[in-house]
Amino acid sequence: MKILLIGAGNIGLVTALCFAEKGHQVFCVDIDQTKIGKLKSGVASIFEPELDFLLKSHLKLGNIQFSSQLESVLNQSEVIFLAIGTPNDSTGQVDLTAVDNAVADIARLCTTATNTSSAKVAKTIIIKSTAPPGTNKKFTEKYPNFKFISSPEFLREGSAIYDCLNPDRIIIGSHPEHANDDLKLFKSIYEQFEISENKFIQMDTVTSEMTKYAANIFLAARVSLMNEFSRVCERNGADIELLKKGLSLDHRIGNEFLNAGIGYGGSCFPKDLEAFNSYATGLNENLKITNAIRKTNDLQLANFGFKIVAYHKAANIQNPTICIWGATFKPDTDDLREAPALKLVALLLNRSFNLHIYDPKAEGALTDLFKDQPNVKIFKNSYEALDGTDALVIATEWNEFKSANPTEIKKHLKAPVIFDGRNIFSPPQMRELGFQYFSIGRQ
Ligand code: UGA
Repeated sequence: MKILLIGAGNIGLVTALCFAEKGHQVFCVDIDQTKIGKLKSGVASIFEPELDFLLKSHLKLGNIQFSSQLESVLNQSEVIFLAIGTPNDSTGQVDLTAVDNAVADIARLCTTATNTSSAKVAKTIIIKSTAPPGTNKKFTEKYPNFKFISSPEFLREGSAIYDCLNPDRIIIGSHPEHANDDLKLFKSIYEQFEISENKFIQMDTVTSEMTKYAANIFLAARVSLMNEFSRVCERNGADIELLKKGLSLDHRIGNEFLNAGIGYGGSCFPKDLEAFNSYATGLNENLKITNAIRKTNDLQLANFGFKIVAYHKAANIQNPTICIWGATFKPDTDDLREAPALKLVALLLNRSFNLHIYDPKAEGALTDLFKDQPNVKIFKNSYEALDGTDALVIATEWNEFKSANPTEIKKHLKAPVIFDGRNIFSPPQMRELGFQYFSIGRQ
């Protein structure tokens, strides 16, 4: 099938490449000409495992074409996917301007095409962008000649290609009169993905839009609950990792998203919580749990930060220098958006700390970000970043850190002190090695 993806960001680019991988002819359009220029020469603007390989292979095979000109590819496409960013505005509401503009462009160009030639132009627009409930209905009313289907995306950064190729479910938010045709269309798009029948879930458009928010809020709630439990563990001597084990074997709970840490971040959870909250407020609903999730998340980071501050104060270390390992909001991505590590940096800079930061994938972005901040030094090597520092703080659980050698860490630090915000080491082992080891929800 000839598929057009509009938006070459995390979701659009990954989806485009996965469709190409599964045998479709894909056009991927983005208004960012620099991004498209790079993609044409096989350079992606994001890091994602497997992405480079797929990009280079499918460019070579000619299965994917990138363009910043919608007009040049619109008439060649049978179906259009929208994967455009939907940031929040300053009031927390979703800013749909970019999506609005893209749909308006499609409508204008399609009208011109149908008027000037007999070309059959795509009239089915599948919305992958996260958009507030009701967005599909609004578009359907405004552009009655088009069919809009809402199919939210659930892929995670860091394992986006895997998730896209192996989806847990495909949501198809349809208008009732098109439901049968839409199911057929999705089955043909996903034919080569070998997805079992029961993973195609059909529903109305509003529910499908809401499913996306509900999924992210649900997952964020689990993380916040575990973070809350971890604080109680620190007071009563219980162990959050054992608690997690005790919970996760309950099949009703399962074992995902139960890792306590320094809080969730990224471009999705914080944004979607805020957007859904603001959407519900517009419906005169005051969401107690959704609000509490965010507050718990903020508190978790602040608690961890103050633990570091209190330790150095008690040890009477003036203007401490500490090393932070990991800056991205999670491992296997170069994404720094809403990263807890960066919030920690801000908190510690406010307390006159000097910081050495090392991240396996964000060195360039961090250098740029802190170029005017004399108290922050960015390093290319994890062990060198430790030299001359009073303590190590682990903010992101990269595998590189999990497999680091504690004896080597000890050699580089001025004092053997670790604040582990992701529980990557074992407390007894660290104690045995002579570390003062502070982790989350463990003694
Ligand atoms: C999230 C959802 O998991 C995806 O399903 C969704 O498609 C995506 O948002 C989106 O809306 O586009 P993502 O933000 O890439 O994906 O990352 P997650 O793996 O969900 O992690 C989010 C945050 O929660 C990270 O900061 C992570 O460190 C934190 N987390 C996750 C924990 O602190 N503990 C856990 O047990 C799991």
